[in-house]
Amino acid sequence: MKCKITNKSLNPFMSFGKMPIANGFIKKEDFPKEFFFDMEVGFNEDISLFQLNDHPKPESMFNENYPFFTSSSEHMKIHFKEYSKYIKKFLNGKSKIIEIGSNDGTFLKNLVNDDHKILGFEPSKNVAKIALKNNIPTINEFFNKKSANNIGEYVGKTDLICASNVICHVPNLNELIETVDMLLKDNGTFVFEEPYLGSMFEKVSYDQIYDEHIYMFSASSVRKIFRKFNFELIDVLPQSTHGGSMRYVIKREKNSISSNVKKVIDFEISKKLDRIESCLDFKSNCENSRNKLLEKINLFKRQGKSICGYAATSKSTTILNYCKISDQIDYICDTTIEKIGKFSPGMHIPIKDMNHFYNNQTECVYLFAWNHKNEIFNKEKDFKGTWFSHVEL
Ligand code: TMP
Repeated sequence: MKCKITNKSLNPFMSFGKMPIANGFIKKEDFPKEFFFDMEVGFNEDISLFQLNDHPKPESMFNENYPFFTSSSEHMKIHFKEYSKYIKKFLNGKSKIIEIGSNDGTFLKNLVNDDHKILGFEPSKNVAKIALKNNIPTINEFFNKKSANNIGEYVGKTDLICASNVICHVPNLNELIETVDMLLKDNGTFVFEEPYLGSMFEKVSYDQIYDEHIYMFSASSVRKIFRKFNFELIDVLPQSTHGGSMRYVIKREKNSISSNVKKVIDFEISKKLDRIESCLDFKSNCENSRNKLLEKINLFKRQGKSICGYAATSKSTTILNYCKISDQIDYICDTTIEKIGKFSPGMHIPIKDMNHFYNNQTECVYLFAWNHKNEIFNKEKDFKGTWFSHVEL
């Protein structure tokens, strides 16, 4: 794949093997036609960008079957409420606000009662429908120049564009940034947050890598990318979401840069996050993590213990397919109606509802939603078995 920013080919430094669509929970009759791609990752040293070498078409992931609803996590609802308070400093009384990838409207809902004009772009039909039902103005299209041109009143007049866990999904970063540029006012602000490369390397949480996550950003990469478009990174704020994310604040003005930016960039340079060396360490850490996980699972099995998974996350697809874990895990329980009764992508572990979990006390539980640990441990206080994961719990 060519990196659109530099047009330079990447040399992959690692392959995770054949991967299905991470959110492609599947019915038994569809197993024979399941789609797989070779999940390789590369590092573009010119812009310090960690990225997938190839990825399925966005239309095959973000469609009427997209099974992710932001509102399924209480923790994320609270996070978005806080996020909506944070962005107020970039607004005046009657601001125009756009959210890219607005999902079911969980974030924008917090701004409905203010005087602002809000608008979400959400390509997945089923989640966009829910937002519209909740009276959140939503355009059911991908965010790009064509769809943005249709909303003339926002062109050059938008005060704030926000996104969460979305920019890393967009294959054509060039067009995305040009669209942001086209919509924003001169003193407008672009705020987005994404899983952070530094957290992924530190935790060896390689399950952050899957088809939807084309890029894994750092402050170093974001600054280099946006400078190519005459934008400046003016603030960075670490977030606890998704196992470690970073909020990036981008503006055209270059005179209001927070001291956070230098601190984080200096940290990244000291950890070589701006260079391929850190990726090579990460590769061997992933291999060690896989060996340790398989040893643990094999030990549970030798001890005659039953194992289930908790939360059929998109991240779990990477773990299960990279480590080739299938019948060792009896089932994965999840709250999402769209996933229940189907099978996990690639490894075909059955997805069951929460009653199944409560009625079949399994001895060992793989917490796939490790990033929601506090919320889940709180809910499942009565569970007496062993929790485990590939990251420290
Ligand atoms: P994601 O990591 O791909 O965003 O998916 C999160 C999944 O975890 C989603 O299917 C809902 C599920 N989940 C539960 O089943 N129980 C929970 O308590 C939480 C927080 C999430």
